[in-house]
Amino acid sequence: MKILGIETSCDDTSVAVYDSDTHRAANLISSQVDLHDHFGGVVPELASRAHLVNLLPLVDVLLRQEDLELADLDGIAVTAGPGLIGALLVGLSTGKALALAADLPLVGIHHIEGHILANALTCEMVLPAVVLVVSGGHTELIHMPRVGVYERLGGTLDDAAGEAFDKTAKLLGLPYPGGPHIDRLARKGRPGRFDLPRPLLKDDRCAFSFSGLKTAVRLVIEGLPRPIPEQDLWDVCRDLQDAIVDVLAGKLFVQAERLGAPAVYLAGGVAANGWLRDRIQAEADCRGLAFTPPKPLYCTDNAAMIAMAGYHHLAAGRRDPLTLDSFARAPLSSWR
Ligand code: KG4
Ligand code: ZN
Repeated sequence: MKILGIETSCDDTSVAVYDSDTHRAANLISSQVDLHDHFGGVVPELASRAHLVNLLPLVDVLLRQEDLELADLDGIAVTAGPGLIGALLVGLSTGKALALAADLPLVGIHHIEGHILANALTCEMVLPAVVLVVSGGHTELIHMPRVGVYERLGGTLDDAAGEAFDKTAKLLGLPYPGGPHIDRLARKGRPGRFDLPRPLLKDDRCAFSFSGLKTAVRLVIEGLPRPIPEQDLWDVCRDLQDAIVDVLAGKLFVQAERLGAPAVYLAGGVAANGWLRDRIQAEADCRGLAFTPPKPLYCTDNAAMIAMAGYHHLAAGRRDPLTLDSFARAPLSSWR
């Protein structure tokens, strides 16, 4: 099957074709980072307009690059939510129009299922597994007995891990999104200089909280000389990243052990973080658990993951009507 994927839930316009016969994905992304950087965050109206301008030309380029016509496809998968509603509507309307024009089946995909199944683009997933979903808007642990079944074990009580990275980066004067910059600068930082908390790490609940850590790091930053000396900047990045990764890894392995899962996975933009990937890999190896970090390209928002999720839905016989609506928020639910 050849599935066209469309992803426009936030600030990246992305289209992809996933071919289940060759197990190959071709993925294109038109980034809006420069457009939003000036505002220190995503401006929803600007995002929708940019999707509108970029989406169809991107589909054209992709199909030409892959030497495909719409008629060669077997279905269209499009992110239906959660995300910015205007941005989502651009992708959804385009997906519907293409499906109607080429008489193709359409499926709406939950963005978080896409992030989880991005792992299937990198490796054959070992299931059951516990998946740590860490993105700009989500920090959740999910038990996944098989594809299509997602049991939420717990999540953040306040900010997402990505927000903790991005908001700290903003305080440090780094560009948006800040996660990749903190990842890069933390490599030059010395560990343990600032005493940052590991919120809820020792708490029995399957829950995260990053707002206290955000306040703690803000107080540290406010106490630094101006302009902030380079080494101080690197050390703050290092300690913030260490604190976030300690909590994420700690909670993931507690749940994997409790459930006796043979595998763990990472999903979402923060899964691109080098230290998080290395840390999970080392601990999974030590515990004899299967783990393959998802390719960095498939961690942040992309349409290949949506096409992959679409392939699973379409292969299971699911079709959505052209009345399908987008949604700003909704928990990931199981299907089949
Ligand atoms: O999944 P994603 O692309 O968009 C959402 O669905 O939210 O995740 C974006 C988040 C941002 O907060 C960004 O700073 C973070 O992922 N991120 C990273 C890294 N790359 C992206 N955080 C830490 N280290 C990275 N290398
Ligand atoms: Zn995402």
